[in-house]
Amino acid sequence: MEENTKKTVLSCIQPSGALTLGNYLGALKNWVAMQEEFDCTFAVADLHAITVRQDPQKFRAQIYSTCALLLALGLDPEKSTLFIQSHVKSHAELMWILSCYTQFGELSRMTQFKDKSAKHADNVNLGLFAYPTLMAADILLYKPDFVPVGADQKQHLEIARDIAIRFNNIYGDVFKVPEPYIPKVGARVMSLQEPTKKMSKSDENVNSWIAILDKPEDIMRKFKRAVTDSEARVCVGEGRDGINNLIGIYSAVTGKTADEIALEFEGKGYGDFKIAVGEAVVEELRPIRERYDTFISDKKQLEDIYKQGAERAFYTARKTASKAMKKVGFVL
Ligand code: TYM
Repeated sequence: MEENTKKTVLSCIQPSGALTLGNYLGALKNWVAMQEEFDCTFAVADLHAITVRQDPQKFRAQIYSTCALLLALGLDPEKSTLFIQSHVKSHAELMWILSCYTQFGELSRMTQFKDKSAKHADNVNLGLFAYPTLMAADILLYKPDFVPVGADQKQHLEIARDIAIRFNNIYGDVFKVPEPYIPKVGARVMSLQEPTKKMSKSDENVNSWIAILDKPEDIMRKFKRAVTDSEARVCVGEGRDGINNLIGIYSAVTGKTADEIALEFEGKGYGDFKIAVGEAVVEELRPIRERYDTFISDKKQLEDIYKQGAERAFYTARKTASKAMKKVGFVL
């Protein structure tokens, strides 16, 4: 039998609302590209999403919708393993074990915990606090070489690495210590309205973020209204957060460098540039939106894909979880 020598990749996404251009450029675009070269496993991280309250009906719909969107993006179940996190019980199981190797102090330093607990002050629950340990379990179960994420997840990746190293130091070589894979452009897409803040679907101002499934006219409107500055020069500059963000987006979508973009728009105003960015994004997302309708309307096909994915994922995850438990001394 031919030995599988491909490097491995793991990443997940929360099904907590409409996925954004930030999710796409920071992570999902890379997922699709990486499946050609690597042995990839991708999950819809439903367990993570309940750290903030979800309406059950909407939540279920969002899980389906996220699965359909991943397929519409071009993830191919023949090439990659696609599943729903809660269907593979090893995630919750290993999380408990790892939580006994995670320190209170290190979790307290997580900026996402600080941000989210400030935002949901009435519900600062244990899950929100322990979230990075569940993420460490998601990753370590599959022994990936690379974890493609946006820059906001870097801190969580570091804690996953620390936990793996700590565990390995005690018990020997159980986990692989993964490397983050963060794109050079698009790793931190900012709000179109407040460009010092990350683009996020939880932002109440809908003009501040682009959903992957937004209609072309909405995408164009949002880009035309994007906040810039009074300099009216299309080039990267310190403190020019709005224009830097638009250049970053245009660069991530077209593959052009910041210098090439500055040259292309020399002597032109922000109005022309915003239209060009909007049109490039519309064209990038158009085929995804068209394919999405086909996938979301075939529940049976969706179910077949994520069930088969869970079986495949469980095969790998179970082996790692058992090994970790055995090392700790559990009777298996
Ligand atoms: P989530 O669901 O918030 O986001 C999914 C991916 O999108 C990236 N991202 C962005 N990238 C650039 N600019 C933005 N504005 C932007 N917003 C989001 C995120 O970095 C992420 O890569 N905890 C994770 C999900 C997760 C996970 C894992 C990831 C659970 N288990 C294991 C990797 C490995 C999260 O909440 O991502």
